[in-house]
Amino acid sequence: MIKEAYKIAILAGDGIGPEVMVEALRVLDTVAAKFDFVIEKTEKLVGGAAIDAVGEALPADTLAACEDSDAILFGSVGGEKWNSLPPEKRPEVGALLPLRKHFDLFANIRPAGVLPALKNSSPLKPEIIGEGFGFTILRELTGDVYFGEKNRGEDFASDLMIYRQAEVERIARIAFQLAKKSRNKVTNVDKANVLATSQFWRKIVEEIHAKEFPEVELNHLYIDNATMRVLTHPHDFDVILTGNLFGDILSDECAQISGSIGMQASASINSENFGLYEPMGGSAPDIAGKGIANPIAQILSVAMMLDIGFGELAAAKAIKLAILKTLEDGFRTGDIFTEGCKKVSTSEMGDAIISRIK
Ligand code: IPM
Ligand code: MN
Repeated sequence: MIKEAYKIAILAGDGIGPEVMVEALRVLDTVAAKFDFVIEKTEKLVGGAAIDAVGEALPADTLAACEDSDAILFGSVGGEKWNSLPPEKRPEVGALLPLRKHFDLFANIRPAGVLPALKNSSPLKPEIIGEGFGFTILRELTGDVYFGEKNRGEDFASDLMIYRQAEVERIARIAFQLAKKSRNKVTNVDKANVLATSQFWRKIVEEIHAKEFPEVELNHLYIDNATMRVLTHPHDFDVILTGNLFGDILSDECAQISGSIGMQASASINSENFGLYEPMGGSAPDIAGKGIANPIAQILSVAMMLDIGFGELAAAKAIKLAILKTLEDGFRTGDIFTEGCKKVSTSEMGDAIISRIK
């Protein structure tokens, strides 16, 4: 039987985006050949590159290509050059937020953890890391202050923090489903000691838990406490469920304790399981064009797309194992380099991973 091709919109963006995307696509082609599936890629402009070419961060034909695809593989956007634009026109906000809203990508899955091979790159103490750890941050991505009504007066400004029942219900369900496939534990993170939105959020999470997932362990932490607990007790966590703003901050903290933000990928999916897959880090203009960026986050974005988006589990696993092996064999880009390892370029890292897939 001939499988239908997976159509992917490739939005490499700015800074290191295009150079790490090259490696990710080489890896994708490698697993497609090995696991016998077909990929149809459509490359489009996004972010600063799109502003320069056509005057807007998310051009209509880029959006149309995304609509016509089975998944979006995103690089990173932004840079000094566009920082003088009004915030909503800048590459990051002007491209990412409309994409999230347009496709209703409400569930943002951000894995965190320290791989045994990268223990020395994490800022955490070895006794806290132990044999390594891993957990998942599930961040609600289309509500909260990000999308609530905004007002600006002469002497005031406001961003409305708002969550509706259905928004909380659907993200809570995803959290419990993820936990069931993992270690069966959800930690809800909010600010219910102060915020009405958090009290409402927590009540709904508890209802969904009691009605639909009583077999999953559920506990709650306030966001301020959670920022400390992930540093002191990272082994305690399995799935962290949280809102858009808290999740933005907490996921960056967790990316940092993982060793390098250049290692972290994320998935943003909607209720039809259509998703945008991207590295958590930014476009890193300071190192762009030098061939030294770490391509692993972009390559792991491909693995997440194959896993979550397409159910190509064997191919996703082959990529993840090849990355582990490459790290165990001592290959390091500058961001994760420690004494005694082999320092490699972006493309050499790609080569090393590809040779371990074949
Ligand atoms: C992220 C980013 C975005 C966010 C910005 C660029 C709008 O920080 O994906 O975490 O705040 O969500
Ligand atoms: Mn962020």
